[in-house]
Amino acid sequence: MKPINVGLLGIGTVGCGTFTVLQRNQEEIARRAGCAITMKMVADKDLDKAQALVGGRAVVTADAHEVVNHPDIDIVVELIGGTVIAKKLILKAILNGKHVVTANKALLAQHGNEIFAAAQKKDVMVAFEAAVGGGIPIIKSLREGLTANRIEWIAGIINGTSNFILSGMRDKGADFSDVLKEAQRLGYAEADPTFDIEGVDAAHKLTIMAAIGFGIPMQFGAVYTEGITKLTREDIRYAEELGYRIKLLGIAKRKEKGIELRVHPTLIPARRLIANVEGVMNAILVKGDAVGQTMYYGAGAGAEPTASAVVADLVDVARMLTSDPEHRVPHLAFQPDQLSDIAILPMGEVETSYYLRLKVYDKPGVLAGITRILADLGISIDAMVQKEPHEGEDLVDIVMLTHLMVEKHVDAAIRKIEALPVVAGKVTRIRLEEFN
Ligand code: HSE
Repeated sequence: MKPINVGLLGIGTVGCGTFTVLQRNQEEIARRAGCAITMKMVADKDLDKAQALVGGRAVVTADAHEVVNHPDIDIVVELIGGTVIAKKLILKAILNGKHVVTANKALLAQHGNEIFAAAQKKDVMVAFEAAVGGGIPIIKSLREGLTANRIEWIAGIINGTSNFILSGMRDKGADFSDVLKEAQRLGYAEADPTFDIEGVDAAHKLTIMAAIGFGIPMQFGAVYTEGITKLTREDIRYAEELGYRIKLLGIAKRKEKGIELRVHPTLIPARRLIANVEGVMNAILVKGDAVGQTMYYGAGAGAEPTASAVVADLVDVARMLTSDPEHRVPHLAFQPDQLSDIAILPMGEVETSYYLRLKVYDKPGVLAGITRILADLGISIDAMVQKEPHEGEDLVDIVMLTHLMVEKHVDAAIRKIEALPVVAGKVTRIRLEEFN
């Protein structure tokens, strides 16, 4: 078979990793793909840097359009990120009949429906293993390995930066802002870490996994997104004392009335495997009706781990190039005319358990008033602890874990509890999942 020519857009960290892995493992890759996969062109606006990295082994240009329009290029690898220029280039490549491999989760979560429709029209593939979980083959697993199953839920630690921060807060008893600074110093967190710490990056990845898992369109706008910035070291410690760890999870759950799509800090029993995923590592739990729970673990970012996913896509595309488009694995796992319009549930209808922490005056009858509010709304308490008074204060922390409850009732209880004169300040609410 004739070699497959690849054009790379963006030779940053992952682009460089992809170039290196393709070169280093070229023989093994050719034996697997049935043909050589060659990086023919590289586009990067920093021409000098690109030329230095490529060292004459590919044509280098500062103009990405040259790559997407070049007749010799079979597959365009988009690793420039962002949603404006990357979208234009991908759509142009598709229009030119080229297959696309991308790691761009923000783009797919927001414009995936349009991109896949364009790709279907032109009978080309758009592969995106590297968009979720870095080197973990979660897309392949959800789309192909678990294809016999009705997926019931997906829950993942899919942002390494926030997992690093939460692990640091727990290990060192440190504040959020101090561990964030350390993450920035080590290069894990960007100078502007908003997307990672506010849950946006995780919401992009959850959108993609939910689409493949449930056969629904990409619906990034419907994901409830709450980051880790408000978590205190006290909450992490109290959770630990009760036998839980706090992780930022992306959760997609199929319920009778619709689908829950949510990213938020979550208490998980410390004995669960996923609760022990530390530092920048990622892990995703998938529950299928036939297989039960499965877990996928690995590096969620980094040059070569992410390149591993990009190159796997290149091999996949190379193998399928000559196949009849009708018989390829559909982009979103389900046939495009079989996507479901099942509703995404509003947060008020989500059902989960809760960790509630409140500051109260240590006086007789205080607890009775609080538990009465909870009982009236049908909220059942699973565990409750009163902590030592803060030094020099007559206020104490009360921590409660609830059984499963629909969120709108918990919201109503919180509003009533906050209005009690014996309660100081706001109630802290963190959702809890048992995964049993
Ligand atoms: N910023 C992401 C993370 C890595 O912290 O996990 C790329 O998806």
